[in-house]
Amino acid sequence: MITIDELGGLRAQVESWRRGGNVAFVPTMGNLHAGHLSLVRVARQLADRVVVSIFVNPLQFGVGEDFEKYPRTLERDMAMLEGEGTDLLFAPPLDVMYAKPQDQQTRVEVPGLSSLLCGACRPGHFVGVSTVVCKLFNMVQPDIAVFGKKDFQQLMVIRRMVEDLAMPVRVVGVETMRESDGLAMSSRNGYLSTEERAIAPVLHRVLSGIAARLREGDDDYAGLQVQATRELEENGFGPDYVAIRKSDDLGEPEPGEARLVVLAAAYLGKARLIDNIDLTR
Ligand code: PAJ
Repeated sequence: MITIDELGGLRAQVESWRRGGNVAFVPTMGNLHAGHLSLVRVARQLADRVVVSIFVNPLQFGVGEDFEKYPRTLERDMAMLEGEGTDLLFAPPLDVMYAKPQDQQTRVEVPGLSSLLCGACRPGHFVGVSTVVCKLFNMVQPDIAVFGKKDFQQLMVIRRMVEDLAMPVRVVGVETMRESDGLAMSSRNGYLSTEERAIAPVLHRVLSGIAARLREGDDDYAGLQVQATRELEENGFGPDYVAIRKSDDLGEPEPGEARLVVLAAAYLGKARLIDNIDLTR
């Protein structure tokens, strides 16, 4: 695996690979776990060369969020990527990504989608995500980019950006990798105490319960959301939202809607956990 931290070397390497084959790209913020590695494996299957980036993007963290203490574990991450047959790791320092002060940085905004759900709770978050992903796409110039469905809204924002701006990248979504008790793998699970870790799978259990009711034909979306929010609160979570939405655009569903996604974000102690289940009925 080649590790590169500046643009010139990255461009030259990817350009030469693209002459003879295709390149898949997996953007990450590091502190890798099996969920990230499942994306690398999909990338491996889809392309001749695999590029992974590690960059903790300050633009997508709000004031008072965990940018400073976000876990940085580069040595360990490099060994894991090497083990998955990654061809190139792009790990730029802050000044390579953002030479100018943040308030002078050009931004990419996907309107509407970016201000719902997690976007409403974390103002500016998705503008930070779409901006950095656009910039990474321009730097890496991949044929294919692989993202997790764990961040369902993020995946939709990226798909919309690529479509609206005619970016020549095929976006691929990968199923959420879970611990054996159902908890979605996340770098932020490391913030959980032993007691909180024992409670954390309740989030997935509650979403699975709603998904089962929806599959049975229940259309009382508001009632299901209220009940699930209460259940999370009773178990010690501080829910930001529990929402049943249309899975194609995250809009409010009419009764009888066939393609749905149940999404939730909730604090458990200091950790903000998110999860979702999509279903067709
Ligand atoms: P990060 O949280 O590091 O996630 C990188 C990628 O891994 C994302 O596409 C995410 O959806 C995926 N992922 C995380 N947990 C997963 C799991 N349990 N199963 C499957 N995939 C999982 O998401 C980001 O970084 C950033 O916002 C980024 C896109 C890199 C832009 O800064």
